[in-house]
Amino acid sequence: METKRVSIHLEGINTRDALPPTEKTAECLKDAGELLKKGEIVAFPTETVYGLGANALNGAACQKIYAVKGRPADNPLIVHIASLAEVTGIVRVWPQKAEICARQFWPGPLTIVLPKKDIIPDIVSGGLDTVAVRMPSHPVALALIQAAGCPLAAPSANLSGKPSPTLAEHVWQDLNGKIPLLIDGGPCTVGLESTVLDLTGEIPVILRPGGITREQLEAVLGRVDLDCHSGNDQPKSPGMKYRHYAPEGDVVLIHGSIPEKVEKISHLLCKKEDGKKIGLLCLKNTAALMPMDILSRADTLFILGSEEDLTLAAGRLYEGLRYCDKHKVDMILAEEISEEGIGLAFMNRLRKAAGKKNMSDPAKILSRPDQD
Ligand code: TXA
Ligand code: MG
Repeated sequence: METKRVSIHLEGINTRDALPPTEKTAECLKDAGELLKKGEIVAFPTETVYGLGANALNGAACQKIYAVKGRPADNPLIVHIASLAEVTGIVRVWPQKAEICARQFWPGPLTIVLPKKDIIPDIVSGGLDTVAVRMPSHPVALALIQAAGCPLAAPSANLSGKPSPTLAEHVWQDLNGKIPLLIDGGPCTVGLESTVLDLTGEIPVILRPGGITREQLEAVLGRVDLDCHSGNDQPKSPGMKYRHYAPEGDVVLIHGSIPEKVEKISHLLCKKEDGKKIGLLCLKNTAALMPMDILSRADTLFILGSEEDLTLAAGRLYEGLRYCDKHKVDMILAEEISEEGIGLAFMNRLRKAAGKKNMSDPAKILSRPDQD
């Protein structure tokens, strides 16, 4: 299948501004809407990561998402809506806490889990009797949902197991030839997925930390618990049990104070063997303290951002992981950040990217044979 790629770059991303009605924009959205109405799937930008959308009320269309991504069938999809009025057609109950969250954080990077109506196919909910709903803030995403005339089920538009796409180029790398249309809306501003919040019980529970922080939620809801995959086989959010977000190279987490991090990175770079490639993913502040001759031993250096703007830095994690993949590094040294605010989501994804391999000895990773 040939994948058509159309660009719509807009001013006012992450606002409620209407789309500028250019002819090209209108035509692209009309085409995309037609494809979705016919049961096809379309990749599109959201403020968090790129999504791969299908009509959420059409089970066969949603099935295509699983097939294209290679996604396990028990991992449910998020249903994206463009107006608050749409929730009543999707969920059985709408508690006051949901109303508070929607008013405060929608459109935006928050997904709410509630009991589902029968109209939502089992394939979308992964067999659960709940559904995850979110109203994205990206104007292209909102306009696309309107053009399709139905809510859109959409996971991140990456191959299952790969880091989520924050640039259209990332979607292209994973899905070119597998989907009919990719709408390029430029870089995703948040860069990490939405927060998944379970509101089915008395106490709200974060199932996946993301773009809306626990602190932001607690400010309007009071107590908010955290239950993002503790290693058991039945996490409440099925997606959390898979080794997600993983690049090709082995990820080694670098923690400690800044001087300790500098020392650890330097040590590993100095031990690098010939023929092995190391990528370094760190903050500007840390890189600035590294001796130049040691820093230059890194084959790839990706500066996430600065300590002073961790939200921006956290949003560049996936781009950094994919950048290291592109340069075919054997090992990625990744700097940890504090788990406050957006740091909770950043560290959750970074740990998943590291997976079990993080337990291994970095020296072994560097010296083992390539076919390992
Ligand atoms: O920011 C985002 O949320 C992006 C954009 C495209 O909106 N989407 C996204 O979708 O990250 P996906 O499929 O990659 O992740 C959805 C997560 C998974 O961890 C899944 O298990 C969880 O949401 N989820 C979906 N429905 C659920 C449900 N009914 N109960 C619990 N968790 C659910
Ligand atoms: Mg995903």
